[in-house]
Amino acid sequence: MKRKDIGCRHTMPVQPTDIIGTYNEDGTADFAPITWVSHTYVDDEEPWIVISMWGTKKTKRNVQRTGQFSINMATTGMLQLVDYFGSSSGKNGAKNALPYTYSSASVAAAPTLDESPWVCECEVMQSVQTGKSDTFFCKVLNVQIDETFEVEEWGVDLTKLDPVIYSGHYQSVGKYLGTIGDFYSP
Ligand SMILES: Cc1cc2nc3c(=O)[nH]c(=O)nc-3n(C[C@H](O)[C@H](O)[C@H](O)COP(=O)(O)O)c2cc1C
Repeated sequence: MKRKDIGCRHTMPVQPTDIIGTYNEDGTADFAPITWVSHTYVDDEEPWIVISMWGTKKTKRNVQRTGQFSINMATTGMLQLVDYFGSSSGKNGAKNALPYTYSSASVAAAPTLDESPWVCECEVMQSVQTGKSDTFFCKVLNVQIDETFEVEEWGVDLTKLDPVIYSGHYQSVGKYLGTIGDFYSP
């Protein structure tokens, strides 16, 4: 194989399409897609979520004010909501041009989208500002999953959850391939 240089832009071709739920000052909900989401370990316990937000969006202001939010995995059936939430801002009023319902998270002070089969409730522990971006390091307070799904020791079969992958475009998950150790064991 011979590779070609394509510049610095396409650094993260596989991103999760997560819809972040926050509460506004008046207690109404705001939702916005954020795909700059990853995780890290701080100690030996549970992973922390790392999430980055650019500019002055309402979601960022809400996270800075409340310190808590929900991550709602977007499935392929939720693409219209992703596009809508991503092309409108809570700064201009409630996002109610499309029908959707939400509930309160189990632990975090945040709204959760009823349509999402996987939800992660988070609390900000630390944040770092780099230019116009703020990156939040967050403890996971709770994870919810559609009760019809099996949760194995290693996680969940994504072909059944059907998440949207963001690569600059929207894509979906293909085949289930196996787990660590299925392809090589020393
Ligand atoms: C697919 C998609 C991915 C996005 N990912 C991010 C992201 O990772 N970080 C970010 O700051 N904004 C991201 N955005 C932009 C916000 O969703 C957008 O600015 C939204 O209008 C913010 O709404 P709010 O002001 O109600 O928070 C993304 C938008 C789309 C459509």
